Amino acid sequence: MFNIVLFGAPGAGKGTQALLLAEKFDLIHLSTGDMLRNEIASGSRLGQQAQNIISKGELVSDELVINMIRERIERHPDAKGFIFDGFPRTQAQARELDRLLQEKDMKVAAMVALEVDPAELTCRLMKRGESSGRPDDNSIEIIGNRIEVYNRKTTPVIEYYRAQEKYHPVDGLGHIKDVSQRLNKLTESLLSQSVAG
Ligand code: C5P
Ligand code: MG
Repeated sequence: MFNIVLFGAPGAGKGTQALLLAEKFDLIHLSTGDMLRNEIASGSRLGQQAQNIISKGELVSDELVINMIRERIERHPDAKGFIFDGFPRTQAQARELDRLLQEKDMKVAAMVALEVDPAELTCRLMKRGESSGRPDDNSIEIIGNRIEVYNRKTTPVIEYYRAQEKYHPVDGLGHIKDVSQRLNKLTESLLSQSVAG
């Protein structure tokens, strides 16, 4: 089992890079943002509850995302590992994830954090808003709030994994291919350590 938390601010490139990593290392990609957007698209009760929160750039409850993650992990008992994208978003979620994995004799091998400066994040999200159709990408106010929520509630997750010596920052600037190469190199090395340990 080899589980990675792919961390980063909104617009850091988590979704794009998670897909590439999942393919290369044969891991299951779990994006809580995608799951929530699917719930909204399907018109489920959960989606209706989430829509209001997401459209403001706020976070849904820890309990809601933990339950979604638990269900997805249990759907894939034979997985080689998982890439968590956009989750955990709070320290409470990180603790719950550890507890959940522990129950199943699994653990987080590493947190890989894509580093991108705030000006570049805003620029990327505005650009994405022109094509993504995501309501939370097309207003400078909502983007600003998402980055503020990230700074306030999500960055403490870095300290959580740093304390476990699992924090690995990666430069998220440049072409998708270049960032992907950096991530592949780091992941190869983490994977060989996890096999050795
Ligand atoms: O991860 P992503 O940026 O795609 O998430 C989009 C939105 O979904 C977030 O801005 C937030 O409103 C919501 N979300 C959340 N909790 C998570 C993941 C996403 O509230 N763990
Ligand atoms: Mg995403």
